[in-house]
Amino acid sequence: MKQLIFAANWKLHLGPDGARQFLEAFSQHYDSVADREVWFFPAAVSLRTVAQSIQGHDYMKAGAQNVFGEPKGAFTGELSVPMAQEAGAQAALVGHSERRHVFGETDAETGKKVRAVLEGGLVPLLCVGEKLEEREAGGTLAVVQRQLGVLDGLSVTDLGQIVVAYEPVWAIGTGKTATPSDAAEVHAAIRKWFVDKGVAADEVSILYGGSVKPTNVASLVSEPDVDGVLVGGASLDPEMWATIASVDID
Ligand code: 13P
Repeated sequence: MKQLIFAANWKLHLGPDGARQFLEAFSQHYDSVADREVWFFPAAVSLRTVAQSIQGHDYMKAGAQNVFGEPKGAFTGELSVPMAQEAGAQAALVGHSERRHVFGETDAETGKKVRAVLEGGLVPLLCVGEKLEEREAGGTLAVVQRQLGVLDGLSVTDLGQIVVAYEPVWAIGTGKTATPSDAAEVHAAIRKWFVDKGVAADEVSILYGGSVKPTNVASLVSEPDVDGVLVGGASLDPEMWATIASVDID
């Protein structure tokens, strides 16, 4: 059975000491649930600590928040996929809204990063989502399809490795969440995009992100096309994150 994925994106929070303390506290509050995995995306400097702290718990994974598209070279300040892997990463976020809209990453850069992550043997967690003005103009599906377009040309096998997170930009850190039915519509379109390329429908995992909280997680993850969540703010409190990751799904 496909596992649900509960993923924590810690953004620019929790250095190695804070990450270790977080995971100690989290383990006091969380008992593994058979149908799901819990993924952590710490700052790069905390990756090894997280990977070591979760060792022996196969249902937990560590991932990088961002990687560079080249494996090595004169690229001061960047993190390569092989280095992230050496530090214990099994996955990497690619194209997070903050990378696109705060740091100006283009679709072309995002596509290059996805390929680098696949080549390095990690799971790419590709983030897509529209801005408020794009939603209001009725352009949500067109934006998401354009962002998925960076995957054009990948083999069906590679496409089957990719996890997608639908994170509407207007819902990130704002307290506004897409309604479960709004999210479901976009998730269904994303799944169809993969199926049209030849990937089996149940092979694609599509997470929802944007102001996920203990109060709304159940209704979101109960939607048939929502295979988990990618959580920012509410993943920074170990008890709250344990509550979210333990939620009962009907
Ligand atoms: P929030 O949960 O803080 O809205 O952040 C969502 C997000 O960007 C996860 O990647």
